[in-house]
Amino acid sequence: MTGPAVREATYQAPPNIALVKYWGVRDPALGLPFNSSLSVTLDRLRSRTTVRFDAGLTDDAVELNGVPAGPKERAAVVALLDRVRERAQLSWRARVRSENNFPTASGLASSASGFAALAGAASAAAGLGLSDRALSQLARFGSGSASRSIFGGFVEWRAGARPDGRDCYARELYPPGHWPELVDVVAMIEDAPQKEVRSSVAMQTSVRTSPEYARRIGDIPDRIARMRRAIRDRDPDALFPIVMDECDSFRTVCETTRPPLDYLTGASRAVLAEVRALNRAAGRPVAAYTHDAGAHVHVFTTRPHLRTVRGRIDATPGVGSTLLVRPGPGARALPSRGGRPR
Ligand code: PMV
Repeated sequence: MTGPAVREATYQAPPNIALVKYWGVRDPALGLPFNSSLSVTLDRLRSRTTVRFDAGLTDDAVELNGVPAGPKERAAVVALLDRVRERAQLSWRARVRSENNFPTASGLASSASGFAALAGAASAAAGLGLSDRALSQLARFGSGSASRSIFGGFVEWRAGARPDGRDCYARELYPPGHWPELVDVVAMIEDAPQKEVRSSVAMQTSVRTSPEYARRIGDIPDRIARMRRAIRDRDPDALFPIVMDECDSFRTVCETTRPPLDYLTGASRAVLAEVRALNRAAGRPVAAYTHDAGAHVHVFTTRPHLRTVRGRIDATPGVGSTLLVRPGPGARALPSRGGRPR
């Protein structure tokens, strides 16, 4: 008897925003970071990816949002498929279709959601049956931050200390409903420039050239410990200053990288200034800004301050719109339908 000559699975995964950033790898071959990172998984936004291994294909075919992937994206997808094939002892090529429900080049961490969904779909289609922890270890080979998108809510990606990377994985710290008052107002910056250099390349330039890098790495364990306590206690007064300190530290490393990495526009900087002004006027931290390697700014606040904070961000020149997101669930399998994400 012969089995079917195709194996297919579909996964959906969300993006996440790092409150403590991953920036730099100590072992490029294993994708092991220098520092642990901590993030919030975002609701409303998601990538859906179907992987169909097919004995009849002669090459991998990768489609992103309905069009064939460019050479760099395709190479990254194929590299992850190769890892899965090697583990599953499978030689079949695959058709990959992935769709985001948000603009891919918008700087909203589509690599995190995309590679988390790809890791889930590819490993399920290949019959690997991985745990979420193992899935987070696989997803990081596509994009480090993808390791955190496997889980929902508040997530820590532990850098670990072992050279073989077995203690390097992501895990949920608190589920999505842990802190219902916490909201994230995303300031979508008009004319946000496209990234010129992939984060995975840019961060290694920082490791090599930024005189601030070592200090940042030294500061992170204590920052993560304090942040975890603040999240546990649902304490914005404790959390928000640490979030902004961390973001400032990340930006300082970027600015002191040679050549400098400048991800913000004037409008992004105006949003940071608005948040500082709001906090000064309130006499306590009512909001916290953070940003990744892109121009959009995430502004965390709590429900009592949402109207004021969102109003001020919306009114900032150069902010095209704001998007309200909350901590959401992690990656999950979906039923597949004829090779198309549902
Ligand atoms: O996962 P990558 O390779 O796209 O790098 C992510 C880098 C940051 O978004 C700036 C930080 C982070 O931890 O998400």
